[in-house]
Amino acid sequence: MTSRIIGTGSCLPETVVTNAYLSTIMDTSDEWISSRTGIRKRHLVKEETTASLSIEAGKKALAAAGVAAEELDMIIVGTLTGDYVTPSTACEVQAGLGAVNAVAFDINAACSGFLFGLHTVNAYIHSGMCRTALVIGAETLSKIMDWNDRSTCVLFGDGAGAAVIQADEKGLVTFDQGSDGEKGKYLACRDRTNNNPLVQSDKVLAYTHMDGQEVYKFAVTYVPASIQKVLGEAGLQPEDIKYYVLHQANLRIIQAVAKRLKVSMDKFPISLDHCGNVSAGSVPILLDEVNRKGILQKGDRIIMSGFGGGLTWGTCLLEW
Ligand code: ACO
Repeated sequence: MTSRIIGTGSCLPETVVTNAYLSTIMDTSDEWISSRTGIRKRHLVKEETTASLSIEAGKKALAAAGVAAEELDMIIVGTLTGDYVTPSTACEVQAGLGAVNAVAFDINAACSGFLFGLHTVNAYIHSGMCRTALVIGAETLSKIMDWNDRSTCVLFGDGAGAAVIQADEKGLVTFDQGSDGEKGKYLACRDRTNNNPLVQSDKVLAYTHMDGQEVYKFAVTYVPASIQKVLGEAGLQPEDIKYYVLHQANLRIIQAVAKRLKVSMDKFPISLDHCGNVSAGSVPILLDEVNRKGILQKGDRIIMSGFGGGLTWGTCLLEW
């Protein structure tokens, strides 16, 4: 038994922030951002929360799948920007959807969060402990950006994507995932300082810090290797895949992966131009965009790959 994606959904915040707008509040330009990253605009939250975006994306995925919330056995949300330390975003989603029969928990694997969630659900399905699940990748990254650091804040956006997963004979074919904690320092956001009575707290508010060049090197090395591993296990060649749905960090990373695999960029749908990097949200938002265009046929082979903070990576091959 494996896992099939039977419905997708996504939700982006209402407010669109263009590169031109950013250039009015910091020393940057549309030319710098778009030429180095491919990003032209992103959606940022005002009233929305990680949970509200997740619930909306989840509702759309359930409607597309024709599945009632009560049928869900499990809800996993990949996020590093939940609204609370506790309850988890997944528990908020469970309440928001009325998914009374689902066990719900979050996974923090940064930009690999949706893939790690999908692989976890697959293990539960494989063991017979779960039949129908909702996996969401959602972020409100804007709240952990230093808006005085132009080298990071221009890259990211907010949003959520969701997929309903059901036990089936066909679907997820094979996957690869991994972590390299030694490299974690290259993309980090400290949570909160120790505030117990034994320690003098420095009360520093922490924001995201990134060594862009190290993250770039990591991505263009590990992602093609992970994809090749999955292809090798399935006995397939890169050209046998219809679409590569990759984490939307940076157009240059995606172009480098396409070059290493020797496949056309036509096989790499893009959403970063209008969404920016939505970390765990990137892959499921893009999957939903592709799915809603109606260009996926039953039996199409798709590779999804997420990579980022941790550092972590997760790749899977699906038969649609
Ligand atoms: N606008 C204008 N100038 C800027 C900006 C900005 N927003 N940000 C940085 N600069 C300046 C820098 O100050 C620097 O100026 P200097 O030469 O006078 O000192 C110059 O641009 C070059 O800065 P670098 O940081 O060296 O820029 P680089 O060419 O490496 O590009 C980038 C940065 C796009 C982030 C690149 O490192 C990259 O592609 N990294 C990949 C990692 C990535 O995309 N991470 C996204 C999140 S991680 C993930 O999701 C996996």
